[in-house]
Amino acid sequence: MNETVIQVENLHKYYGRTKAVDDISFEVYKGEIFGMVGPNGAGKTTAIECIEGLRRSDSGILKVLNLNPVSNGRNLRNYIGIQLQESQLPARLKVWEAISLFSSFYKKNIESSALLKDLGLEEKKGSYFDKLSGGQKQRLFIALSLLNDPDLIFLDELTTGLDPQARRVTWDLIKDISGKGKTIFLTTHFMEEAEKLCNRVAIMDHGKIIALDTPQNLIRNTIMETRLMLSVPENFELNVLNTIKSISKYERSGENIIVYGHDRKMIKDTINFLVNNNIDFHDLKTGQATLEDVFLALTGREIRN
Ligand SMILES: Nc1ncnc2c1ncn2[C@@H]1O[C@H](COP(=O)(O)OP(=O)(O)OP(=O)(O)O)[C@@H](O)[C@H]1O
Ligand SMILES: [Mg+2]
Repeated sequence: MNETVIQVENLHKYYGRTKAVDDISFEVYKGEIFGMVGPNGAGKTTAIECIEGLRRSDSGILKVLNLNPVSNGRNLRNYIGIQLQESQLPARLKVWEAISLFSSFYKKNIESSALLKDLGLEEKKGSYFDKLSGGQKQRLFIALSLLNDPDLIFLDELTTGLDPQARRVTWDLIKDISGKGKTIFLTTHFMEEAEKLCNRVAIMDHGKIIALDTPQNLIRNTIMETRLMLSVPENFELNVLNTIKSISKYERSGENIIVYGHDRKMIKDTINFLVNNNIDFHDLKTGQATLEDVFLALTGREIRN
């Protein structure tokens, strides 16, 4: 049985006429990495900050670790860790000073030297905040969100501004934290990040959740088509492919052909056909749908536009 750690029912938050969060409902279960993805302005930060108790919602039911994040906010903050999308610290604050300042906010503290070591910040203990690289600052904010040994960690835009290498390091870090039994709720607008990291993903657009499932199910249920791209001899007659039942359509794309089907059987059937008929093919690629494709299929537009 899944244990619910976050319950959101019919959450609304409007700013004047902007429906930042427009009636969303979902649950987050203990131990999972739950991701909320969506383009800029989709309402992710508004939603996460309402759940953290940092913003007041207009209406809806919110329960976090069985507490009301507004009326029990002070108590709740002992059990949760928060990394905000836009965080800053004074330029001349040293890493260890930030750690000891933030530790003083909580009743319970973990041993910070092990934490700094885990996050690769040990050597930077004496560095000023403004002398840290973007990735080191990010890791410091993750460290600060873990100081009270929280059961539930909120990370808003985990890896924005990081290079691909630092992003991957951060993913590993989050997996480690999750491996210790913690629940993680993160937002991101990188579909790849959500796909690689999250057990379940809610796709948000214009204040609404338009899909919620595991990345695999989202891809499987939304994208009907399997694609196969390959190069065939110039004199290859495309219409011979009509005899393969599992092909739904095919087209020529420059020197390649693209074959579509509703399931992966099409790939096997097509290759068998080509081999059996001694048709020389090369540069074979299968098109793997991604969460990016899911967003496109659901909304008709690219996430970055
Ligand atoms: N404090 C505020 N006052 C007025 N409007 C706001 C406020 N905060 C957010 N909004 C508006 O609400 C909508 C959702 O914003 P939000 O920051 O929640 O989106 P987001 O999904 O986190 O976007 P991003 O990916 O850019 O971080 C946007 O249209 C934004 O302009
Ligand atoms: Mg945001």
